[in-house]
Amino acid sequence: MVFAFGTVNVLLLPIPVSLFTKFINSQRFWRQSNPQLARSKMAATLDGFAVVPGAGSGIGRDCALAYAVAGAAGVVFADINIEAAKEAAAESRGRGPHPSYKAIAVAVDVTKEENVSSLMDQAVSEFGRIDYAVNSAGIGVKAPAEIADASLAEFEQFFDVNVKGTLLFCKYATQAMKKQEPRTCQGCAAERDLGRGVIINIGSLNSYVPVPGIVQYTAAKHALFGITKSAAIDNAPYNIRVNAICPAWVKTKMVDEAFAANPALNEMVKKAVPMGRIALQEEVSDLAIFLSGRGGSYVTGQGWIVDGGTSLQMRT
Ligand SMILES: NC(=O)c1ccc[n+]([C@@H]2O[C@H](COP(=O)([O-])OP(=O)(O)OC[C@H]3O[C@@H](n4cnc5c(N)ncnc54)[C@H](O)[C@@H]3O)[C@@H](O)[C@H]2O)c1
Repeated sequence: MVFAFGTVNVLLLPIPVSLFTKFINSQRFWRQSNPQLARSKMAATLDGFAVVPGAGSGIGRDCALAYAVAGAAGVVFADINIEAAKEAAAESRGRGPHPSYKAIAVAVDVTKEENVSSLMDQAVSEFGRIDYAVNSAGIGVKAPAEIADASLAEFEQFFDVNVKGTLLFCKYATQAMKKQEPRTCQGCAAERDLGRGVIINIGSLNSYVPVPGIVQYTAAKHALFGITKSAAIDNAPYNIRVNAICPAWVKTKMVDEAFAANPALNEMVKKAVPMGRIALQEEVSDLAIFLSGRGGSYVTGQGWIVDGGTSLQMRT
């Protein structure tokens, strides 16, 4: 593209600058007024079927919607809060490019083995296979306390949801994926193996490093990463890939409320995050889509830190 006086030269055709600017602005307006549709135009990269526990809210909801807009043929919106899951599933309909897209909502408590097993059975009986499984079911810290005053009750609750839940999720997603045929896609030089399925656990920057006063969260997120790596090594021979996405702060309702209640947090985050802002939900779900597609076909057992550079800094 060459800029000339009063014209923009695109492929050697002179176009008046005003027309060109109008076109760019209309594209920008279209993207802003149709954000999910715009995403589907930009990222229609997948087909297949997804299961997402925690899809009723926050990161899980955004990941489940992202599968729809990226071209999945079906998505299971699973959550302990079935009304929230139904609402998110309804929102996904008509958003994606797949002509026979189907969304279903399923009630699941990830701490209950029979619930998680039945979730995967329902997904397979509805769609025939599970290509992508993302676990974002989680709880927030209610009682921050230094180690000397740590609440055993809250510690056990975190281990129930974040650790037992992750184990059950990986176990039953794996059982379903092991039974299905691997998929391939055309690479540049040869056919590329996409494998039998992709499992993603939503960890945290606290899967790597602690912050003061939340041993229950930090320990549970470290354990989640341990399960992710174990599942990855056990599943590698079956070509099922398992990764964790490990964000720092993400703009969710929970985090917005925390910021509203404590305005000092804003300043603290600006100092702690080199990029000076927290992550958007779509900056997490876009990574889930990348790891699910051909871009992630040789990647397993890794924690993908999404933190705007937070973990690069030493406290001085
Ligand atoms: N928001 C952040 O800043 C942030 C940062 C790093 C990691 N994470 C992690 O991402 C995950 C999602 O967090 P979020 O901010 O989107 O939270 P959220 O509260 O918006 O969503 C969590 C969802 O999980 C569901 N859930 C809770 N317990 C469940 C259970 N036993 N069974 C099934 N579903 C259950 C909830 O109903 C809710 O819909 C959590 O694991 C969290 O630790 C969040």
